[in-house]
Amino acid sequence: MADRITLRVTRYRPESETEPVMREYEIPLRKEWSVLDGLNHVKDHLDGTLSYRWSCRMGVCGSCGMTVDGEPKLTCATFLGDYAPGPVRVEPLSNFPVVRDLVVDIGDFMNKLPRVKPWIIRSEGEEPAGREYPQLPAEREEYERFSMCINCMLCYAACPVYGIDQEFIGPAAIALAQRYNLDSRDQGAAERMDVLSAAEGIWACTFVGECSAVCPKDVDPAGAIQRYKFTAAMESLRAFLLPRGSR
Ligand code: FES
Repeated sequence: MADRITLRVTRYRPESETEPVMREYEIPLRKEWSVLDGLNHVKDHLDGTLSYRWSCRMGVCGSCGMTVDGEPKLTCATFLGDYAPGPVRVEPLSNFPVVRDLVVDIGDFMNKLPRVKPWIIRSEGEEPAGREYPQLPAEREEYERFSMCINCMLCYAACPVYGIDQEFIGPAAIALAQRYNLDSRDQGAAERMDVLSAAEGIWACTFVGECSAVCPKDVDPAGAIQRYKFTAAMESLRAFLLPRGSR
């Protein structure tokens, strides 16, 4: 394996560039280095003006998402050696406005997320005795997969529907709504239904499945959406067949 590799990195500084340009940086190629380590080398030794986000370096915080050789990836969990001999293209996540270099604006997701109420909702007067909501391991398994989401936005970057229709509430928000709908302690499914069942909710999804393919935590947002489509269809059927008082 060669001991150097070239990173082709998108640079965009709105005060000096009217559109993004690519810059090349030659860096050491070390077996244990992730793409994020490579960017940190550029920042520390070659060009301190490069902007990108990261925090934990261990695939937990979800902030280091970028496009690596055309695919949305967590750069702290993507290794340079897998792209040898290079060059490796590093670009901002698709489908989001670019703020600077590799930093994107995820404000659209942050505005949409509270609309699906991703928290436990209890009916008035139905608080459990004491302070705990008991739950069996089997009940926890029902939603556990969807609770692994780290809001990294790779699923939005990969989603062709979100790419053309930014009204779509999107894969992570729907998976997080399902995380609470399937939680035995939650009683808020009816409150989430209007948003999830709207045209820009589950029905906008055409089940391309790219969201699940790129998810670094195996959350399977596409599966969450298909499962909720079934729930919503059954709910409409029930509402159609049963008189209002008996539902
Ligand atoms: Fe936290 Fe990569 S830096 S997930």
